Formats: sequence, structure tokens, C-alpha cells
Amino acid sequence: MKGVITAGGLGTRLYPLTHVTNKHLLPVYNKPMIFYPIQTLVNAGIDEIMIVVGGPHVGHFLNMLRTGKELGIRHLEFAVQDKEGGIAQALSLAEVFAEGDNVTVILGDNTTDADISKDVAEFTDGARIFLKEVPDPARFGVPTFDPQDPSKISKITEKPKNPDSNFAVTGLYMYDRKVFDYIKTNKPSDRGELEITDVNNRYIETGSLTWSKLSGYWRDAGTFDTLLEAGQHWAKKAK
Ligand code: DAU
Repeated sequence: MKGVITAGGLGTRLYPLTHVTNKHLLPVYNKPMIFYPIQTLVNAGIDEIMIVVGGPHVGHFLNMLRTGKELGIRHLEFAVQDKEGGIAQALSLAEVFAEGDNVTVILGDNTTDADISKDVAEFTDGARIFLKEVPDPARFGVPTFDPQDPSKISKITEKPKNPDSNFAVTGLYMYDRKVFDYIKTNKPSDRGELEITDVNNRYIETGSLTWSKLSGYWRDAGTFDTLLEAGQHWAKKAK
């Protein structure tokens, strides 16, 4: 299993902070944001990691992470995403790095204390996603459960106006090698991006997507409010 972290994009929701550095290098309490998804992967036994970076401050990642060895990474690679083409487009840059292995993908602004080592060890093929109940599902990818069999997801909708459930699809995904073929046939969405939600819907169509609830704390720290709230959570946890 290889690990991929998507840390491209311009971080416009955090302007003016992101005029001077990349969003994923901003502090969440006492560490840069990017340390959290790295730790989630390393704790799950994944120590070959590619970080997809982008925007005007890509060089800052090297200054911060160097070889990655101090964080438990055995092999660290970077890919540069030319423009914000979407999470799935960022992931497509990891195809050569993945060498046909399965990949665990984490969005660079997601922080969690969930232990996914069992899921990583047991994953063989298809796709696996992790859900979390949230008060504001319209901000996320939202699953619709099959009314005949509520253990099954019938579709995922990206940022729906009227969400079908109170669950968010968290930014933590496991895929087999087919993911790269699926991305190649993806069409850009209305916002001009290759959406990870479309990739997940392809796996649903082929009956090969499984899911579980993410246990523990999870926040997407990409807005001022969630950045502050995530910092407060990790500060409390550190004491
Ligand atoms: O946080 C979970 C949510 O993340 C999911 O529920 C949604 O289904 C998923 O689309 C995503 O939504 P966001 O709108 O929050 O994604 P955002 O644009 O903030 O991008 C997430 C991370 O991926 C971010 O840390 C930057 C990186 N990224 C994003 C884009 C658009 C890239 O590396 N390249 C990109 O082109």
C-alpha cells in the first residue's frame, strides 16, 4: 500500500494567509497542517508517500519536510500539479509512483486521530471510503443510502443543496489500481475540476465500493473556523 496526500490548490478560502505560504504549511496548534495526514498514514504502516503540491509556494514543502525521515517516512516523493484541476487530477499524478499497488489517499487539509491500520491491512481491491456524521453536510460529498438496503451507498453527491443524509464523505480513501483508469475517463465538473466524487461513483456503479464510519476526531481544516477549531482540539489533546 502506498500513500498519496493531495496538497495542491491555492487555498483561496484562507486568503490573505495563503498569499505568503501554502495552506498545508499553516499551523494547526503546534504543527503544520500537512503533518497530520502524514502521521495518519505513517501510523497505519504506510511509509512510501507522494505529496502532490501546487500553487506559488511549492518550494516551502521541501524546507519543511526535507527527507520526511523524522516523521517516519521511508520514501518521500513530490509531484507538482500545474493548476487546480481537482482532487482526482491531483491523484492521477501518482500513477507511476503507485507502480500498480493499492493507494490510500488523504486530503492535505484533513486532520484525524482515527486509526486506519486495520482497514489498510485488510484492503484488497475496489474502493473504501470513510463517513462521518456532520451538522453541515452540504459542504461535503454526501452519500445517499439505498432505501432497500441501507448498508449500501447508491450514490454520492458533491456539495448537494439538499443533502440526502447527515454524513460527509471524509477525505480519506483507499483504491485499487483501477482508480487511475477511472480518472482518465472522468469529465470535468461544472467547477472545471476532476472530482473525486465522480471516481467514487464509478466504484459504486461497479459494486466495488465499501465504507465504514470513521471513528474518532475528524476535521477538514480548510476554512478559518475549522482551522481554529482543529487547532483547539489538538491543543487540548496534547495536554
Ligand atoms: O474534506 C472532505 C471533502 O473534501 C469531501 O467531502 C469532498 O467530497 C471533496 O470534494 C473535498 O471537498 P473540498 O471542497 O473541501 O476540497 P478542496 O478543494 O478543499 O480540496 C481538498 C484538498 O485537496 C486540499 O487540501 C487541496 C487539495 N487539492 C485540491 C484541488 C482542488 C489539490 O491538491 N488539487 C486540487 O486541484
